[in-house]
Amino acid sequence: MRCLVTGVAGFVGSHLAERLIADGHDVLGVDCFLDYYPRALKEANIAALRRSPRFQFIEADLNANPLDELLYDMEWVFHQAAQAGVRASWGTSFDIYTASNISATQRLLEAALTAPKLARIVYASSSSVYGNADVLPVTEQTLTRPVSPYGVSKLAGEHLCALYWQSYRVPTVALRYFTVYGPRQRPDMAFHRFGKAILTGEPITVYGDAAQTRDFTYISDVVEANIRAAQTPDVEGMVFNIAGGSRVVLREVIETLATLAGREAQIDYQETARGDVRDTSADIALAQRLLGYAPQVALRDGLEQELRYLEALYLAPVPTPAT
Ligand SMILES: NC(=O)c1ccc[n+]([C@@H]2O[C@H](COP(=O)([O-])OP(=O)(O)OC[C@H]3O[C@@H](n4cnc5c(N)ncnc54)[C@H](O)[C@@H]3O)[C@@H](O)[C@H]2O)c1
Repeated sequence: MRCLVTGVAGFVGSHLAERLIADGHDVLGVDCFLDYYPRALKEANIAALRRSPRFQFIEADLNANPLDELLYDMEWVFHQAAQAGVRASWGTSFDIYTASNISATQRLLEAALTAPKLARIVYASSSSVYGNADVLPVTEQTLTRPVSPYGVSKLAGEHLCALYWQSYRVPTVALRYFTVYGPRQRPDMAFHRFGKAILTGEPITVYGDAAQTRDFTYISDVVEANIRAAQTPDVEGMVFNIAGGSRVVLREVIETLATLAGREAQIDYQETARGDVRDTSADIALAQRLLGYAPQVALRDGLEQELRYLEALYLAPVPTPAT
């Protein structure tokens, strides 16, 4: 298949593109290197991809360039590009969220109208669309009441996908990811920050009491869900929860990371950040039934993989000059 991956230099996009190439597909990757975190990390994410003859990269902003040409011969589109991050989405920076998460999605869907070979657009949505749900685990039927501007922007993108399916038969599917982790996780995300602090002997900043719970999803499981969402017939217009299948207390994650690293963790408790959800937990029965999705990677194994990545990133030996 000829695939477009937007946000290809990011955490999820780069892993997804690698899997598509490994499966024998051709990938065009697009990214504008938003400066939310360092470009050097994103360049490293796509360094191996750039060596593949079946990977092509375009540095472009989805809002600044005509997209019809980009989509023209595409069969699968994986729309991962977004301004991520819950805490940063308040105030004037919301403009970046509306541009990258809402306008860019609408432009992509418009361009999809002119793409003759398009078989599927998979949209990366988020558990943030639920906010603080009254009943856990959430199903896809749970009322969506985001508690952050980021969540509002991701929900708007999701609604646009559903609209373009209903009105124009653009074949969209939305996946609501629940906290993705693993190598290349964004540096603002909890496990990355925790692992880095443990490895470098710094205190870990925790917003809240560390008793909050999350449903964590290992990156390869999210990638698999994307491919299944592209391949499975008759799921257009649908949304699916994509989660790791078990709910974990944040404090336990910190303890596991410290054990795996063979180091102590010091925790600096800070007030809960506005927009942060207390608990997340997903019912993944729909994805299991219709997509055949079943998370494969246990939390401890996934944490070990992420820790190895962080060690290489932050503890790499400084080369000594030759004497
Ligand atoms: N990581 C998670 O836990 C998580 C959870 C829920 C949903 N998501 C969603 O998954 C997707 C990927 O997240 P991630 O963690 O890999 O984020 P990321 O920030 O690592 O990757 C997103 C990439 O999109 C690019 N981008 C943003 N706006 C763009 C634009 N207008 N044009 C071109 N490129 C643009 C950025 O430069 C970045 O490299 C996002 O849509 C995010 O909202 C992620």
